[in-house]
Amino acid sequence: MQYKYCDNENYEDYASGRVLYSAEGVANFPVRLVNEIFGYAKEYSVKKHDLCVYDPCCGGGYSLTVLGLMNADVIKRLCGSDVDTKMVEIAKKNLALLSEEGLERRYTEIKALYDMYEKSSHADALESIERFKKRMKRDITTEIFVADCTEELPRLSPDIIITDVPYGNLVEWNTESNNPLYDMLQQLAGISHKDTILAISMDKKQKAIHPAWTRKKKQIIGKRKFEIYIHD
Ligand SMILES: C[S@@+](CC[C@H](N)C(=O)[O-])C[C@H]1O[C@@H](n2cnc3c(N)ncnc32)[C@H](O)[C@@H]1O
Repeated sequence: MQYKYCDNENYEDYASGRVLYSAEGVANFPVRLVNEIFGYAKEYSVKKHDLCVYDPCCGGGYSLTVLGLMNADVIKRLCGSDVDTKMVEIAKKNLALLSEEGLERRYTEIKALYDMYEKSSHADALESIERFKKRMKRDITTEIFVADCTEELPRLSPDIIITDVPYGNLVEWNTESNNPLYDMLQQLAGISHKDTILAISMDKKQKAIHPAWTRKKKQIIGKRKFEIYIHD
């Protein structure tokens, strides 16, 4: 795939478990790809600054946290929800890194480990935090909660919805719904404003079809694909 918005840089700072907390059972989304998808979503978005971004299947909040750390200049508010309470707890810890205070707390935590074990991985993590601190010019407001996204959601009115939906092997849908993707699209339409952009990453075979959303872009990447929709 040809990348338009995200250069092929070294993304080790964002490696799961280094500074960001890792979540057992969730395959974290590739850093460069999530940022590329965000780039496309922003291209279609009328609003370009002070964005509110929502992930309704946020897992451990890895993608959201990476987006916050890399785009603090344009993101003002990040919201995430997941049906799994354990994931939401991890997401809260990760999203807390998007403030000066949160980064300082994580620094103290890793510094204590470094003082105890003198591992190079901890020294690397401390350097990553220093780089994050320089990038994070302002704190991002965050809101993380437990919710089944196929059922009623709070009216967040996000500018961009970006999500990586369950896809079988690693993570299954956890819901009573017989058509979770459709029901999620229905709920997301209900909490969006007229210019909300939706970016979904899914299995190549999954179909996101709903009258409230019009597809503007489709990109296949191996067995997966991402699609960008505007709200009708
Ligand atoms: C592929 S993972 C997303 C990983 C996430 N992007 C990250 O960065 O950690 C899909 C997530 O969907 C969640 N999920 C499954 N059914 C759901 C539902 N009905 N409502 C909301 N989340 C759900 C799972 O708990 C899982 O965390």
